[in-house]
Amino acid sequence: MFMIKRFQDKLTTRYMGREMKYYQMTESTNQDAWHLYEEEYIKGSVVLTDRQYKGRGRHGSHWFSTKDTSLTFSIIYEVTLPMEKLGLLALLSAVAVATGIRVSTGFGPAVKWPNDIIVNHRKLCGILVETRRAKDKTIVVTGIGLNVNERKIDFEGDLKETATSINIETGNKTIREYLLAQILYHFEYYLENMRQVIPQWRFLCAHKNQKIFFHQGKNIIEGIFLDLDEYGHALIETNGKVETYSGNSIIL
Ligand code: BTN
Repeated sequence: MFMIKRFQDKLTTRYMGREMKYYQMTESTNQDAWHLYEEEYIKGSVVLTDRQYKGRGRHGSHWFSTKDTSLTFSIIYEVTLPMEKLGLLALLSAVAVATGIRVSTGFGPAVKWPNDIIVNHRKLCGILVETRRAKDKTIVVTGIGLNVNERKIDFEGDLKETATSINIETGNKTIREYLLAQILYHFEYYLENMRQVIPQWRFLCAHKNQKIFFHQGKNIIEGIFLDLDEYGHALIETNGKVETYSGNSIIL
């Protein structure tokens, strides 16, 4: 209870995070979020933990979060977007997190299509958007794993080479309560101003006209990232041919 109050006291949102569940330890906040949704839907509910031991990553991977130093949470909401626009939710999440980081720490990381946050080719944040279709709406759980106060020694194995944190990049400790409040504020803002998502994502993207690698199903695609289309799909040039790729959410 005390922990929730520390986070909620900093909120400046209307509804995001006003309903919050905190677990000292849990398997996966995305899984908890779906359970919470099944019990009762409250728009903008947040599930937060300080120790996640079976975190779900994209493409069926496992997500590793360091105990007590990261922000590991999931947000529940519903949207009435057409199917072809659901990919915008991944971009929205990346924009909200990157903007929240910049406003609360002064450090401005870039986004990588569709929803990674990268600094010098190292991953600062992973985002997993899961959706369920209902009759006239889509229910969404967006899970966010953001490395905040980790030091290099906190990362194990391959992560030593592939992951980074705000602390490693800036040399400063960040107050996680303010950071979460800023991320949720921007999340709420962009959900209500969806038209600003693509322009803001383009502004934060550092790989325009550069070669990128990304997963598409089981394949890894390599090509020059040209731009986004109006649905948030990526236009990628490979061998002189432009193809469109969707960064859609995981449909449960
Ligand atoms: C990725 O593979 O890049 C996405 C990782 C998403 C991890 C977050 S941590 C909070 C939430 N709960 C989960 O089980 N996964 C997401």
